[in-house]
Amino acid sequence: MDIPEKRWARHLLPHLPYDPAALEPHIDARTMTLHHDRHHASYVENLNSALEKYPELRERSLTWLLLNPGKLPEAVRATVCNNAGGHVNHSMFWRAMSPDGGGEPTGLLADAIKCDFGSLDKFRARFDEAGEKFFGSGWVWLARKQQGGGKLEVLTTSGHDNPLTQGHFPILVNDVWEHAYYLKHENRRGDYLKGWWSVVDWEEAGRRFETSGHSPEEIREGEGGPALEATT
Ligand SMILES: [Fe+2]
Repeated sequence: MDIPEKRWARHLLPHLPYDPAALEPHIDARTMTLHHDRHHASYVENLNSALEKYPELRERSLTWLLLNPGKLPEAVRATVCNNAGGHVNHSMFWRAMSPDGGGEPTGLLADAIKCDFGSLDKFRARFDEAGEKFFGSGWVWLARKQQGGGKLEVLTTSGHDNPLTQGHFPILVNDVWEHAYYLKHENRRGDYLKGWWSVVDWEEAGRRFETSGHSPEEIREGEGGPALEATT
């Protein structure tokens, strides 16, 4: 039997779960195509390149890579963290939206938002304000604290940092890097944030909320879809 000489796993760019034009008019098709096919694709490519010389890291999950920066070789630590974060965050971002999105959350998530923010409108206002005021490139999140009762909070992270590294489980995310909105909205990030509520997939957010009591390792595949492909 032939045994492949070289066998290792590569992280994969997930397919967009809908057509690039499906979120118009709120997010235009050209932005979606560039964002997914160029920006997200480059994070996956850069991550695979950085891991090429480190077989012991190639089959680690994305979550493990993000949660264990101290175990990464210093030569590739920043590259791995930045690009694994870009891959995880964008994979979640595509699924946070849907052509059938908008409306309001239901069930346990709706109850938790009302309990922790007072109302859905108050939560949205806080999320929009955090996203609009955030300086530079980053992300705005609805996240659940992993300790002390699991309160919901609005957070921002810089670059491609993920709330998991700060002890928060991400429930919903919006990308506030300029590449997410500049072609259509130019410098008007606030307009992009307000329109985005029309495409939010509350069912996905609700599913994430209901699994948010699991450990990061248990939910790892929820972060990047089919993240690894064995190649020879
Ligand atoms: Fe992005």
